[in-house]
Amino acid sequence: MEKPRIYITRKIPDEVIKPYKQFIDIRMWEKATEPVPRDILLEEIKHVDGLFCLLTEQVDQQCLENASKLKVIANMAVGYDNIDVTSAKDQGIIVTNTPDVLTETTADLAFTLVMATARRVVEASDYIRAGKWKHWSPFMLAGADIHNKTIGIVGMGRIGQAVARRASGFGMEILYHNRSRHKRAEHELHATYADMDKLLEESDFVVSLVPLTEQTEKLFHQETFHKMKDTAIFINVSRGKVVDEQALYEALRTKEIAAAGLDVFANEPIGVDHPLLNLENVICLPHIGSASVDTRIDMMKLCLENIHHVLNGEDPVTPVE
Ligand code: GLV
Repeated sequence: MEKPRIYITRKIPDEVIKPYKQFIDIRMWEKATEPVPRDILLEEIKHVDGLFCLLTEQVDQQCLENASKLKVIANMAVGYDNIDVTSAKDQGIIVTNTPDVLTETTADLAFTLVMATARRVVEASDYIRAGKWKHWSPFMLAGADIHNKTIGIVGMGRIGQAVARRASGFGMEILYHNRSRHKRAEHELHATYADMDKLLEESDFVVSLVPLTEQTEKLFHQETFHKMKDTAIFINVSRGKVVDEQALYEALRTKEIAAAGLDVFANEPIGVDHPLLNLENVICLPHIGSASVDTRIDMMKLCLENIHHVLNGEDPVTPVE
């Protein structure tokens, strides 16, 4: 019997795909650091039963129109706003993502940004490199405390809870806002549900962990930043489009809020001319939330497991919705 065919939109290590080669005919984009060109994706998708893609690919209507044989799309990310899930489902295509395996790693990065922005770590390192460290002085690069402060987590999913666990180790008070109450987080993590206004008004750190949907697009806008304390630090490790970046820029420039730590942007990748990079009170990272070697390999393996299951007629491990 002919083996099912899949296309992987990035070059991934041979050791990761090796166990699947006996079951699946695997084709792969040849570059590890550059996304597959759109025309190649549109051609490849015509011939395959499975697609392993990254958040750099827009699997939209046009793409799906070409996908007459496709049975499964495995997105190597927990977020799947790059995929037209409704159209895929209408065509009977199963979509999977990579939750769980990246939870702790992404929460580590969220907390890294909390700490690095509060204690001005990047600025301090640049200070030495720029030859500015001439004397020690009491308020040189003095930042904000983290311990015993209030963190407001917007989006209390798996990663939100993992951030809450870290916050509780720092003795922080934990507020959260979510579509629905999370009783377990309230009992186990002593997190307190707050409406959005209360969370914005009372938090020292506001951390965005909401997925990008029609409801969350530009959830953080001029008014939202206005409601935050002028000492507040805003952290975003979810999706750039949940923020009105122009409003964030203005809030930071006018010191309406104190600082921001951003791992994601509305249009990625950003270049050196991005306005937010002109501000000293912002730390920008190139979307590396889940980027530990171990976790990235686990994410790749989970994508392949999902594909293997579906092509074998079994239920996927981590389907979306
Ligand atoms: C990364 O942003 C992801 O959604 O996994």
